[in-house]
This record gives sequence, C-alpha cells and structure tokens, in this order.
Amino acid sequence: HGHLTGIDGLQPHEIAFLLDEAEQWIEANRNRAKPDKRLAGLTLINAFFENSTRTLLSFEIAGKRLGADVVNMAVAQSSVKKGETLIDTAQTLNAMRADMIVIRHASSGAVRLIADKVDCPVLNAGDGSHEHPTQALLDALTIRRRRGSIAGQRVVICGDILHSRVARSNILALTALAAEVRVVAPATLMPAAIERMGVTPYADFDAALDGADVVMMLRLQNERMSGAFIPSTREFHLRYGLTTERLERAKPGALVMHPGPMNRGVEIDSNVADGVQSAITEQVEMGVAVRMACLDVLTRRARGVEGWA
Ligand code: CP
Repeated sequence: HGHLTGIDGLQPHEIAFLLDEAEQWIEANRNRAKPDKRLAGLTLINAFFENSTRTLLSFEIAGKRLGADVVNMAVAQSSVKKGETLIDTAQTLNAMRADMIVIRHASSGAVRLIADKVDCPVLNAGDGSHEHPTQALLDALTIRRRRGSIAGQRVVICGDILHSRVARSNILALTALAAEVRVVAPATLMPAAIERMGVTPYADFDAALDGADVVMMLRLQNERMSGAFIPSTREFHLRYGLTTERLERAKPGALVMHPGPMNRGVEIDSNVADGVQSAITEQVEMGVAVRMACLDVLTRRARGVEGWA
C-alpha cells in the first residue's frame, strides 16, 4: 500500500504532483462547494495520540468534503488508557476495515510501525520529532502560490529545529524543490550535522534574515524537552523572536509563516503574526486542500483509479 509516512522517500516530482492535485480544491473550498464525493463509501479513521487543532480538524473536513465517513478515535477514552499496545490498537482499527488511517503520535517512528501492520493507506499527522509531511506540503503550496515558485526562494526556518518534525519535513520538501534553506537556532536546539540535510545553519537570526524571501517561525516544543533544557522565554524572544524591526532585515514583502500553534510574544510578536506579510491563516486554508489531495491520491489504487503520476 502507498502510505504517506514522511517526505523522506518522495521524489521531487511526487511532491510537486501532490501540490498540483491540491490546487483543484482551493477555490471550491473558498466557495464552500462540496460537489465531489469521490471518497463516498470509504472510512477514514483519525487516531491522534497527541493534541491537535489544525491537523485533526482539517483531515476531518478534507475527508467529509470528499464524501468519506470520518471517525475520530477518542484516545483519552480508549483502551490505550488500559495499557493496550500501539500495535494491538492498530490491528483493532485494521479489523474494522478502515480504508485510510491518519495517525499522530508522540514517538518518532510510531506511524511507520503501524503502516507495516495494516492493509490500508496510513498518513502521518506528526510522529515525535520525526516528520509531519502534510504540514510540509501545505507550507510548500503556500510558498509556491504566494512567491510564484519554490526553486531559488531563500527560506529561513527559525526556532526549535532540534525537536521540530515540521522543520524536518519542510527541510526535506523545500530542498527537494530547490529552495535555499537556512536554519536558525540556539546551539542547544540545533541538530548535529544539520548541514548534511543541504541547509545552512545560523546561530544569529539577524544574519540569517539577510535577503530572506520567507521567514518560517517555530514553537518551542517544551513537551519534548526536560526541565533544565527549556530556554527562558524572555531570553529566547530577545535573540530568536520575530519582531517588526527584525522582519525589516528580510526582503521587502517577505512572507511570514508559522505552522501553529503560536506562542505570541515568544517566537513571534502579535503585530507580525497579524500583519500584512503573514500567511499564517492561508497555511491553514491550504491544509484542507492538501489533505484532500493526499486522501484522494493514496486511495486511488483501492478505488481502481490510476495512482501516482
Ligand atoms: N500545525 C499543526 O500541526 O497544528 P496542530 O498541532 O494544531 O495540528
């Protein structure tokens, strides 16, 4: 089965194909039109073992707009709380004949583990510090539409690079599509040997912003750090927070992005998040279109429709 466990392993033309497929849904979504029920009769199970607003709701909306029956597993009320293992849970969902399973989990690699155990497409909605592929796709689509292309764009990703699955998936997608990617973090939140991913690391945010076309801010993933290593938010904001003054170092009209949820006043100031250069709500909008495309493309073989390009 074709799964979407990460951007890793996708060819540049496959990434571009998913973005192209998403384009067709943007206008219809804006007009609240829901004429296309191509997933009618299919069951989508959302199994989110970590909290979510955007990803969970947009997968639910994406499935419903295309006519699927969407079931959201209430993990807090499930038998996971009685000690059932992840694999037993996956086999239980599989026995109910789900046609698509969307999973978010705190452990890196958990989604791959489940994908190997079930006989329907599995989509990764974020696994630990590993990957969040649909986030990277919706970010790439946002950049492509707003900047005209991705190739050659100077994209600065700033914040907790070490713990961020969003950063990792974005680095993979944006470098595959020939963007120039700079990553910015304090030394304690920068992965070792990040240059091997084809990006340039910076400790100085101001220096990295020079000539930036896109500035993507990340939240401190406090839930993945232990006590002493959580930086002081005041100190972090001083050196790595995106303020109006700092944004002036980027190209005029540079795009401001954030995957959400934001911690206003920490990694990003409210007047930047809500300013004219912000694409943050557009990212959310692209998220529904991208997830419609992913659900459609991954179920094509099962529906007897030609699959990947
Ligand atoms: N960007 C993102 O994954 O947000 P949620 O955690 O709200 O899904």
